Amino acid sequence: MTSIPSWGPPGPTLPGTTLERHVLDRQRAMPGATGDFTGLFQQISLAAKIIGSKVHKAGLTRFLGLTGEVNVQGEQVQKLDIFANNTIVSCVEAGGHVCVMGSEEVDEPIPVRDPFPPGKYVLQFDPLDGSGNIDVNASIGTIFSIHRRKTPSGPGSLEDCLQPGRDIVAAGYVIYGSSNMFVYAAAGGVHGFTFDPAVGEFFLSHENIRIPKRGRIYSINEGNYNLWEPGMRRWVDWIKRPDAEHGRPYSHRYIGAMVADFHRTLLKGGIFAYPPDTKHEHGKLRLLYEASPLSFVCEMAGGAASDGSGRVLDIEPTALHQRTPLYIGSADDVADAVRVMNEAE
Ligand code: AHG
Ligand code: MN
Ligand code: MN
Repeated sequence: MTSIPSWGPPGPTLPGTTLERHVLDRQRAMPGATGDFTGLFQQISLAAKIIGSKVHKAGLTRFLGLTGEVNVQGEQVQKLDIFANNTIVSCVEAGGHVCVMGSEEVDEPIPVRDPFPPGKYVLQFDPLDGSGNIDVNASIGTIFSIHRRKTPSGPGSLEDCLQPGRDIVAAGYVIYGSSNMFVYAAAGGVHGFTFDPAVGEFFLSHENIRIPKRGRIYSINEGNYNLWEPGMRRWVDWIKRPDAEHGRPYSHRYIGAMVADFHRTLLKGGIFAYPPDTKHEHGKLRLLYEASPLSFVCEMAGGAASDGSGRVLDIEPTALHQRTPLYIGSADDVADAVRVMNEAE
């Protein structure tokens, strides 16, 4: 007989901490916790595993290409966009933890259908971010945020969806790339989990992620240069102008899937931006299921996110699919961008 059981002392599970265990441990520490939050994460992580599996087999299973439809944003819909949307909706509504969902691919809020009970949370998501990368084997992802419901009971509504990012309870993203990763932010910080396909689980690989205060990379679609306002052009000119003392010029990286560009920015520092231009009066990115969740993750990791004049998390949403300019990343780089673009002529 040994005094320590053979499965080891209490603490992280061996050989690693699963996403489920991580969320559960943190929820147990919260007074009055019911397990709803852990349950919702289980549903999201199940959806992520199913989507990840489909993404990796897409070329084999003729699941690439367009459906022939155009979504509420006026964009071509990929088959995988719809598959990812439907997978998340059906996994999550069956769990009974949300009262309503909001998705990039669906015009109106998605109520939970009978016979599933409406829960106390609201889930908003971009089922597949960076759809343009699907057919070329580059990274794509899923972005999500969770709020508490505002309406008291019954099916949720638009009112539950239109909440500012500062009231997010948890947010995160999944990257389907060279490996699949699940990153989430909640009161306990930002943590990353890497998928082990042999086990079929996400394991903690990046504990307590902190974004560097300053980076050396800027990420923006510079093809839009001549469509930007003068202040924006001034900042990009400034960041490219050699200045050895301050570490400029910065390097430029742009994958074209925000979730992948943001993930690099979170780990290495720097800035990702999608400003307004003559084609996109308010920028291209959607507030509720792209900009807000990643702004929450970024702030929780010690970074910043601005719409050019204020904090993205303080924007009061008025429409499910509203767009916002976004400057997100290392705190010093975001402050520089806002300062230089707003300098007097
Ligand atoms: P989605 O695929 O969900 O529509 O999002 C695409 C977004 C975002 O991921 C990316 O940063 C941006 O569109 C790229 O836009 P440009 O091609 O205009 O640079
Ligand atoms: Mn997107
Ligand atoms: Mn999308």
